[in-house]
Amino acid sequence: MTIDVFWRIPTHGEPSSHRNRTPHRGDWFPGDDTKAKPGSVGGTGEGYIDYVAEIARAAEISGFQGGLIPSFPMTDEPWVISSLLARETSTFRFMIPFQPGFLNPVVAARMTASLQRATGGRALYNIITGGGGPAQLWWGDSASHDDRYGRTTEFLDVLKGVWNGGPFSYKGKFYQVEDAGLAHPLSQEEYPEIYFSGSSDAALASASKHADYYLTWLEPFEQLREKFDRVKARTQILGRKIKCAIRVDIIARPTEEEAWAEVEKGFNSLSREALDKFQNPDASDSVGAARQRGNRPTTINSYKDLIIEPNVWSGFSLLRGGQTNGIVGSYEQVAERLDQLVALGADAFILASTPHLEEAYRVGEEVLPLLRGKTDTAILRAVG
Ligand SMILES: Cc1cc2nc3c(=O)[nH]c(=O)nc-3n(C[C@H](O)[C@H](O)[C@H](O)COP(=O)(O)O)c2cc1C
Repeated sequence: MTIDVFWRIPTHGEPSSHRNRTPHRGDWFPGDDTKAKPGSVGGTGEGYIDYVAEIARAAEISGFQGGLIPSFPMTDEPWVISSLLARETSTFRFMIPFQPGFLNPVVAARMTASLQRATGGRALYNIITGGGGPAQLWWGDSASHDDRYGRTTEFLDVLKGVWNGGPFSYKGKFYQVEDAGLAHPLSQEEYPEIYFSGSSDAALASASKHADYYLTWLEPFEQLREKFDRVKARTQILGRKIKCAIRVDIIARPTEEEAWAEVEKGFNSLSREALDKFQNPDASDSVGAARQRGNRPTTINSYKDLIIEPNVWSGFSLLRGGQTNGIVGSYEQVAERLDQLVALGADAFILASTPHLEEAYRVGEEVLPLLRGKTDTAILRAVG
């Protein structure tokens, strides 16, 4: 058994710590200290992409297998960023999230095969299908929740069909192709590994057909065990096997006290408005997002109100947006919790912590070796 560990690449700027929320690194936020335009950082010629490249290299050096490059309206474009990072790194793998509905599958196959060819097969996917509501309309997509997943499934049918050269014909509800197939030598490239996100039944149906890894945010541990079992059983019915992966934020420090102090300082810097917004559901139709919100307390007076189980804090989205449950503790404790997740079915992790550059080194040097030491049946593929 091997455990794959990825890092996350913040392509939307980031604060310099969980507690100092300004200035931000990158010009996605005002008050930046690393701008996108060359020449803007103290006249050094260092641009934002250089900072992102530093993070990718730090992750590579520290033993991560690669990184997830997120895709939201407020991020840079992950296909483009991957191509730029490819020449800055040598083993780093690019996990590219995209909503299949926004790309033609034959074009996507060709883009991916070109990237595989140029990088020695370092591209892989995080297939996302969107959360509906205004965020979906931002992309011009008004398809219903289940239609979006139907489209994702058909997209992957076609992508796979054309990959090895075809000729492949397909008549679906969303896609039709005739005698399509990648040309030689693109058709010789390795098919990308597929991580698949989504918690609804429609998501599970699509994942069980096409995914190598079912990818979820962190949830209460027993809930995750049940989720993994369900996905695996569903995939087995189709005569396939699937692995499970968790995308999780962490705050790891030499001692538990130091880790919670970081959380507390971040929490104490929040406005009442941010807390009110956090407690109100958004307009998305995402089952996964609703599961993340879980049973949020009606009154939140202290960061402690958001501790849902030992070393698990459900307020991460308050500090940096995105997913909400994450792990907080000493290096030992964080490794122990990750190890427990391995025991209940996780085969891979995508970890993140702010700021991603320094934390890539810290987590790579302090936490990954402990995880490797504890998980006696598991070898971290990322570190050897
Ligand atoms: C680990 C993970 C990463 C995700 N990353 C993105 C992303 O980069 N961009 C995005 O628009 N949605 C992202 N999503 C959200 C999915 O697109 C989708 O909204 C969500 O999974 C809704 O599906 P569901 O109703 O089946 O849960 C992610 C979801 C998960 C679980």
